[in-house]
Amino acid sequence: MNLKMIGACLIALLTFAVTPAYSEDEGQRASTGGAQTLDDILARQKGLEVDESFRRENLGSFDNAQPASSSLGTLGGFSSSDIYRGIRYSESDIKVSNNGHAAEILVQDGGMSWLLTREGNMRAYAAYGIGGIIIALCAFYFTRGRMTIEGGPSGQTIERFKSFERFGHWCLAGSFIMLACTGLLLLFGRSVIIPIFGHEANSAIATFSIWVHNNIAWVFMASLVAIFVMWVAHNIPSKLDLVWFAKGGGIVGHGHPSAKKFNGGQKLIFWMTIVLGASVSMSGLSLLFPFEMPMFAKTFAMINTVLPAMGLPTELLPHEEMQLAHLWHAIVAITMIIAIIAHIYIGSVGMEGAFDAMGDGQVDLEWARQHHDLWVEEEQAKGAPIRQVGDVR
Ligand code: HEM
Repeated sequence: MNLKMIGACLIALLTFAVTPAYSEDEGQRASTGGAQTLDDILARQKGLEVDESFRRENLGSFDNAQPASSSLGTLGGFSSSDIYRGIRYSESDIKVSNNGHAAEILVQDGGMSWLLTREGNMRAYAAYGIGGIIIALCAFYFTRGRMTIEGGPSGQTIERFKSFERFGHWCLAGSFIMLACTGLLLLFGRSVIIPIFGHEANSAIATFSIWVHNNIAWVFMASLVAIFVMWVAHNIPSKLDLVWFAKGGGIVGHGHPSAKKFNGGQKLIFWMTIVLGASVSMSGLSLLFPFEMPMFAKTFAMINTVLPAMGLPTELLPHEEMQLAHLWHAIVAITMIIAIIAHIYIGSVGMEGAFDAMGDGQVDLEWARQHHDLWVEEEQAKGAPIRQVGDVR
């Protein structure tokens, strides 16, 4: 890219950054009697920010009341529109017979942007991301081929993971795959299942999916804790990982960079699983117990103290908390699904000998030396048994 193009991009970015929010024309506003103008409507349709204070704050007042002696004197100072606006912007003093903050919100128009995001961008990005990683992995497989054990298997094996480690891994993997499948059925039900199989089928599938999703989530959360406890000590980042990444992990470059029990790429998968897994679990719990676990206003307040320029809203309605939890849950889950598809590839068809680590726990000694040389040295120093393939245990 030449300098002129970089300059043009910078100017374009700056233009977006300094373009003020749409400011209303007072004259026009007066011509509509203080109500919204055509410009307000057009700006909103273009997705521009519109200052809504002209109606948010226009809620009527006792001061506007006509004297009791006049013809409209008995109507008070609040028109029906004033009252509706008060309800819409949650400014009215609402009393309801059932308890809870959420019940007092009668109209919540933020729900529209939640719906549009979920029905629009969210599905599109999920489809591109998941489709994209599958196409990329297929392309990688057909160009680079399966990573083989150089010189072939040695015929000797060493124990890589104990049975309780494999059990923890498969509980996490099994529950995650079920959560991913049922979550995607819920996300794409309206756009894929209804057009093909109809409303009744989608209703049955969605009812089943949500039941599985809500119950299997507990297995995922428990095994996430187990995986963290079992493997955190082996996943502390070190200088060795930088060298591993610099050498392309031996996948794109030549030779095998040194690694202990987990290499840099595996540590990345580990921490992604833990951090995103914890985040998807927290937002999931917030959805499972509606209005009981609001967390976004508090999180935004913390982010604002570190990055004040973000100016995130710190006062959220109960419904907004739920909408954010719902969007965040899906965004994190889709990110995890994309990363885990790559993990599944490398742990199965992508690399000869890798699956055995999570199969019977025994890996070929030569495979282990090529991918985890320092770990093999440590294990042999501890006297770990080496078995011949075919040995009866
Ligand atoms: C069919 C699906 C899966 C297969 C075939 C698979 C395979 C494997 C294998 C072979 C290993 C050990 C690699 C080694 O020996 O160093 C491993 C490790 C691991 N797996 Fe999976 N896995 C699957 C699904 C999952 C899922 C769904 C998650 C998390 C949600 C997960 C999280 C992990 C983590 C955190 C590790 C340790 C770090 C790493 O080796 O990358 N796995 N997996």
